[in-house]
Amino acid sequence: MTNKYMYFIANWKMFGSLNSLKSLDKVIKFFKNFKKNTSNKIIYCPPSTLINPMFKKLKKTPIQVGAQNCHENQNYGAFTGSINTTMLKNAGAKYVIIGHSENRQDGETDKLINLKIKSALKAKLKVIFCIGETLIEKRNKKTNSIISKQIKAGLKNIKKKSNIFIAYEPVWAIGTGIVPKSDDLLKTIKFIKSKFKGKLPKVLYGGSVDPKNINNLKKINNIDGFLIGGASQSSKKFIDIVKKT
Ligand code: 13P
Repeated sequence: MTNKYMYFIANWKMFGSLNSLKSLDKVIKFFKNFKKNTSNKIIYCPPSTLINPMFKKLKKTPIQVGAQNCHENQNYGAFTGSINTTMLKNAGAKYVIIGHSENRQDGETDKLINLKIKSALKAKLKVIFCIGETLIEKRNKKTNSIISKQIKAGLKNIKKKSNIFIAYEPVWAIGTGIVPKSDDLLKTIKFIKSKFKGKLPKVLYGGSVDPKNINNLKKINNIDGFLIGGASQSSKKFIDIVKKT
């Protein structure tokens, strides 16, 4: 890998309890002893209920905490059940995942994603902006046009993009154990970067990343890191992935 920093972002999705925070002890210990960790950035995105306890636990470590979603309104308001970006920041989050396909499938539109990204940037959160095509779109050779559309709409009227990371997560690779062919992935990441002028964004890959396939994935030299779902819930697997990269 030629990148200066590799990002490893754990997306716990709707898993984890206060008890699961104990499992981070292993990860903290590993990063204390792992000299190479200076070239890696580790971010944990637990469910909202665990953001603050996790932040407190990781405070004296280089590991940072992020959220998995946010409301589009940065101000406080009568939005029952929602959490805004100001609240996430206040709880200790430095990052927020926006546009995950699991939320897109639940009706989250490109327009809403755009508002959420704007709100997150205003609150000084870094954004992990997820894009990716479905299996049907891939079969119809629409990958590039879909991700172009998602980037264009999601980042509409956003000039300063330095705090935005792109996470390419093909929907068909999430939770399926299937990862894209190396050549295809290399081309898609290149295509994503070609959509930006000036300083290129960090582009991460997500979808079934695990200790078995990381040896192949790490060879794709334009990837800046990984967004890891299932495997990130096991400290052992997560450490393994980092170790091998
Ligand atoms: P899996 O690693 O479980 O496939 O999930 C990927 C993902 O959705 C990360 O955001």
